[in-house]
Amino acid sequence: MTPSSTSTHSAPDRYRQDDWQRGYQSQRQESAQWLTEIEGSIPAELSGTFFRNGPGLLDIGGTPIAHPFDGDGMISAIAIDHGRAHFQNRYVRTQGFVAEQKAGKPLYRGVFGTQKPGGWLANIFDTNLKNIANTNIIYWGGKLLALWEAAHPHRLNPETLETIGLDDLDGLLAPGAAFAAHPRIDSACAVDGGQPCFVNFGVQAGFSSTITTYEFAPEGTLLRRQARSIPGFAFLHDMAITPSHTIFCQNPVKFNPLPFLFGFRGAGQCIEFDPSAPTKIYLLPRAGGEPEVYETEPCFIFHHANAGELGDEVILDSVCYANFPSVEENTSYLDVDFDALPPGELWRFRINRRTGEVSRTVLESRCCEFPSLHPDRVGRPYRYLYSGAAAQPQGNAPLQAVIKLDLDTGDRQLYNLAPRGFAGEPIFVPRPGATTEDDGWILVLVYEADHHRSSLHILDARDIAAGAIAQLNLPYHIPYGLHGSFTREVFAPAC
Ligand code: CO
Repeated sequence: MTPSSTSTHSAPDRYRQDDWQRGYQSQRQESAQWLTEIEGSIPAELSGTFFRNGPGLLDIGGTPIAHPFDGDGMISAIAIDHGRAHFQNRYVRTQGFVAEQKAGKPLYRGVFGTQKPGGWLANIFDTNLKNIANTNIIYWGGKLLALWEAAHPHRLNPETLETIGLDDLDGLLAPGAAFAAHPRIDSACAVDGGQPCFVNFGVQAGFSSTITTYEFAPEGTLLRRQARSIPGFAFLHDMAITPSHTIFCQNPVKFNPLPFLFGFRGAGQCIEFDPSAPTKIYLLPRAGGEPEVYETEPCFIFHHANAGELGDEVILDSVCYANFPSVEENTSYLDVDFDALPPGELWRFRINRRTGEVSRTVLESRCCEFPSLHPDRVGRPYRYLYSGAAAQPQGNAPLQAVIKLDLDTGDRQLYNLAPRGFAGEPIFVPRPGATTEDDGWILVLVYEADHHRSSLHILDARDIAAGAIAQLNLPYHIPYGLHGSFTREVFAPAC
């Protein structure tokens, strides 16, 4: 698709690596307060709570961790109502967080290379990983859950963010079972009389891998659960859904666990991209039945934007990398050379279920991550896609913009925060009573290097290039986060 027009909020300038690095300083403060520094005005109709999870500590007692993905989960919550905003942030009190803060040093190995001090002798055969609860946070069925894909979720008090404890989903999760960090909400589930349902999965990966899918009613009760085994090691971070399928992409990777078992490397560093193998796309019928499997050229996918079904075709929009951005040994993530990494491009796969053919086109070649859309369009044909994006049109770079794609016309809009602002995952919130798909707001947490502080920017989704209609300055910085969600419930102290 060729863009027919692009409008830009401000001219991009190249970022400075030291600006970007400061966004990864640990945040040791926790607080709860009404926000008083608000630029512009908060829309009166915007009401609810924005939750965000991400690594808050990038060191443990002064020992740097090897990768942000190993950082302890810290939740930020911004409740908005009647034009006011209340902020709080708090660490998830996982067993590992509590023990390490008491000890003042790392006690666990991390998936992405963080090792206990003492070299390989201290780490050999230690596969006891810390559940760091750092990847996503969602309110469903009366529970606020902090998610990390390799273990149980932690349940938190949505009013105070205090940790209640590990949650086995009313006995559904066996001890040690995984529950992924990428649920999708089907806004109108046909088999459930049109009520919304929460779809998530768990993977047990090995020489063959088992994918268990779960679907929950609005009150949190289980509707459907299925377990299927697929051949080979499966690194499955995300999932897409349609009204009748869950969709998984099995990246072409090899996993050699020996360096991990022998203590030399983290488990995430033992994954190797295999450019000779295809990417496999699995369609699992939500109502039960055999999986369908399709193949396409090798690429690496962390995140899907959306999927939908149209006749014989399943459409899947994903952020694709030409190869796996591997986790290198002996180099700090802070010194990453973005220019040497492949950009994450938005690709559209068209899977023809009759012929078995998969075609693909590039929707956006600008480096993108954290795609999102109108919550009611999840799993369905849609027009507007929003994503974090690089300020520069080519190559890999930190996310310094929000991009809006009109998939019907090819138009793009860019909200550009370069050179000193860094963007997180944008979240679209529909305006109450809206009748068009982009009538609502984009909420995006921004790290501002010039103030060494974070702020929540609220954009009119119809015209994001016009700039923020409100900017809510937080009292301090929030290290770059991962995923979050928005709920219409307002979790703030009474005014
Ligand atoms: Co993710």
